[in-house]
Amino acid sequence: MKVLLTGSTGFLGGKLAVLLSKRREVERLYCLVRSNGQDARARLKAVFDFHDDPFDPARVVPVEGELRDAELGEKLAAHPELRDVDVVIHAAADTSFAPANGENLEKVNVEGTAALARWAESLPGLKTFCYEGTASICGSRLTNCNVREEQSPHASAVHLVKYCFTKMVGEISVRRIIPARKLVIVRPSIIMGDTRNWAPRSTVILWALAAVNLIRLIPVDPRANLDIVPVDYAARALVELLFAPRGGRPRAGPAPIPLRGWRASRTNEEVAEAARALERAPPPPAVSRLLAPRLQRQRRTAAAARRHETLFRVHRAQSNFR
Ligand SMILES: NC(=O)c1ccc[n+]([C@@H]2O[C@H](COP(=O)([O-])OP(=O)(O)OC[C@H]3O[C@@H](n4cnc5c(N)ncnc54)[C@H](OP(=O)(O)O)[C@@H]3O)[C@@H](O)[C@H]2O)c1
Repeated sequence: MKVLLTGSTGFLGGKLAVLLSKRREVERLYCLVRSNGQDARARLKAVFDFHDDPFDPARVVPVEGELRDAELGEKLAAHPELRDVDVVIHAAADTSFAPANGENLEKVNVEGTAALARWAESLPGLKTFCYEGTASICGSRLTNCNVREEQSPHASAVHLVKYCFTKMVGEISVRRIIPARKLVIVRPSIIMGDTRNWAPRSTVILWALAAVNLIRLIPVDPRANLDIVPVDYAARALVELLFAPRGGRPRAGPAPIPLRGWRASRTNEEVAEAARALERAPPPPAVSRLLAPRLQRQRRTAAAARRHETLFRVHRAQSNFR
C-alpha cells in the first residue's frame, strides 16, 4: 500500500505519520509538507524526533507541496512516484478560529481540499480517500438534543467560526468528487493532549482553557459532557478504521464516522477542576443555565469577538508549546 498523508507536521497528522510508518501494510508513506522556508525533509524528520521515533527516509518520503498552490493538482500528477498511491489521508487544514484568517481558510480548507481530491480521484488505483472532518460542522444552534451524523453537512447550519464552515464546505466537495465506496470521512470531536502525558501542542484549541481561566466564568451546564479525545486515541482509531474491512454491500453514500469519547468523555466540571490544578487557581464557576442565554448573546457581539482574538494572541505569546 502506498499512502499520501497531508498535515504530517501538525498535531494529529504527526501522530498519524508515526503510526502509519510502523504498519507493515504501508510500503511507502508520502507526506505532503510545505517547506515554510526550511527543508521539507528536515521538517518531517523533526516530527519523528518529537515523537522519539526512528525516521526511515526509505519508507517515509516528503513531497513538497502547498494546498494554496493553484497548480497543486498538476504538480502532484507530474510527480513520478505518486501515480501508484492507493490511499490518501487528508489531515491538513487551516485550523485557526481567528476571523482575520477567513481568506486563508477558504483557500486551504475548501479550494486546496478540492484540488487534492480531484488529483486523488484521477489516480488509477485509488482505493481510499480519508477526509479528516470535524464534529463541529453540525453547527452551533443544536443544543440539548442528540446530533446524528447524517444531519451534516447541512447548508443551513449556523457556524461558530469560519473554520467550521470551511470544513463543512470542504467535506461537501470531497463527497462530490470521490465516489462513496472509496470515501472514509471521520469527524473527531475536540482533540487535546495525549494519554501518555506528553506536552500538548495544539495551541489552536488550548487557548480556550486559558481564556476561560481569565474570564473566570463559563456559561455551561457543569454536568454536561465536553467531548475531548486525546491525540493518540484519535490517531489509533483512525488508523484502525482505515485498515478495517469495509462492508461488501454498496452504500448510498459514505457514513461519517464520529471519533469521540462518548460515555467516557469528561464533564465541564471535571475540565474546570483540571484547569484549576494546572493553573493553581480556584476553578472558574460554571454559571446557571438561566444566565447562560444572556451571556451567549453578549458573546456573539463584535466586541466579544475582538476580545476573543486578543485573548488568543495573549495566550499564543505566553505559550511555549511551539
Ligand atoms: N485538533 C482538533 O481538535 C480537531 C478536531 C476535529 C477535527 N480536526 C481536524 O483534524 C485535522 C488535523 O488537525 P490538527 O489539530 O492536527 O491541526 P494542526 O496541528 O493545526 O495541523 C495542521 C496541518 O495542516 C498543515 N497545513 C496548514 N495549511 C497548509 C497549507 N496551506 N498547505 C499544506 N499544509 C498545510 C500544517 O502544516 P504546517 O506545519 O506547514 O503549518 C499542519 O501540518 C484537521 O483537518 C482538523 O480540521 C482537528
